[in-house]
Amino acid sequence: MSITSKEIRKKFLDYFSEHSHLILESASLVPINDPTLLVVNSGMAPLKSYFTGEQRPPQQRLCNIQKCVRTNDIESVGDRHHLTFFEMMGNWSIGDYFKEEAVDFAWDLLKNGFGFDLSQMYATVFGGDKKFPAVPPDEESKVAWEKYLPKDRIISLGAKFNFWGPAGDTGPCGPCTEIFIDRGKNYGCGKDSCDPSCNCERFLEIWNAGVFMEYYLDENGNLRELPLKSVDAGAGLDRFAVILQGVDSIYETDLLSPIVEVFAPKDNLESKSVRIMTDHLRCATFMIADGIYPANTKREYIVRRIIRRALLHARLAEKDPESFIRATKVVVELFSPYYPELIRSQGIVEMAIRRETATFGKTLNRGLKELEKVFPKSQEVISGADAFKLYETYGFPLELTKEIAAEKSLKVDEEGYKNQLEKHKERSRQAKGGVQ
Ligand code: GLY
Repeated sequence: MSITSKEIRKKFLDYFSEHSHLILESASLVPINDPTLLVVNSGMAPLKSYFTGEQRPPQQRLCNIQKCVRTNDIESVGDRHHLTFFEMMGNWSIGDYFKEEAVDFAWDLLKNGFGFDLSQMYATVFGGDKKFPAVPPDEESKVAWEKYLPKDRIISLGAKFNFWGPAGDTGPCGPCTEIFIDRGKNYGCGKDSCDPSCNCERFLEIWNAGVFMEYYLDENGNLRELPLKSVDAGAGLDRFAVILQGVDSIYETDLLSPIVEVFAPKDNLESKSVRIMTDHLRCATFMIADGIYPANTKREYIVRRIIRRALLHARLAEKDPESFIRATKVVVELFSPYYPELIRSQGIVEMAIRRETATFGKTLNRGLKELEKVFPKSQEVISGADAFKLYETYGFPLELTKEIAAEKSLKVDEEGYKNQLEKHKERSRQAKGGVQ
């Protein structure tokens, strides 16, 4: 193998350490003192108070590899590069260097550190957006990239692509510049207009080389300027590994292929269900190891949903859920040298996964049968009452019902579902003796 993931982590941290960045440990996936977030979803999330100026960082330049969970793209898991759990390689300047240096660092490390083929590289910058009229187009990053890239490979885009954050509902945010690798026409939609803003798989974002944290978005949707101008840069380890290990998808990297092998022989790498089980079991293992046990509330519901979704795919792929335990053992073996908490929690992880798969496994068949009854009477929309019954009686997370329904081109009445859920909560409160 050209370069292992272990070597990628090390090279990244060594580079930034050599450039005066203090290496931090990865924080837990459970956010501390942050009601805006259920789980840590980015490298900057545990460092927010440094960006706002509320706390002083131990040093102005920081870096680390941070465990992250994001489920906003969960439906895309199974393609070449979407994940629910990933390791973010991050470098930060808290009121120290800014746009030009962030671009210089990224270019230098990609070229001289990792030896990326830069002829395939594109950069995107914030081009202005009426959503944020007070934020000017980012000319400074554009000029910084012009030192390295031809102008036609520097693309200006709007806020949807090049304004990042906040990591929760409110918090630090700003325009950003991202790096994409062109994987070639064969990976994409084939349209002449295809560029890094296209949602096909041709252009792979490998590094958010700098979110320029200049603003704070408040609860009224207003931006105010932060006291410091900072940089928050993050690169997904799995995506670096795809390019540097010269493989087609994240599932063939040394980070995920040993987990894939638990579920499928090598010739079955493209099975969507195998990919989903692989990603979800890694995510669930890390979440449980950080003390997030499957349940129906808040972050616990995220891990429950992930395990239940994996179980559905185990059923579709005709896999024995016992393979989930084997998969968690592989996750622990692969990742514990970097995340020792996995070793300490191995027994608890196995127990939680066994319990969840046993509980949901029993009702999964009955729930699927119930869904078969619901489909014909639903025409275009599954009623809120039916979706709620599936949740209450069979433990089907709403999102799972939506996904199964979507395969039959059906929608779910989500408002109706929420009404039913509220009524149910009200009934429970009354049964417990009323609201305090
Ligand atoms: N915090 C920057 C990113 O997650 O892309």
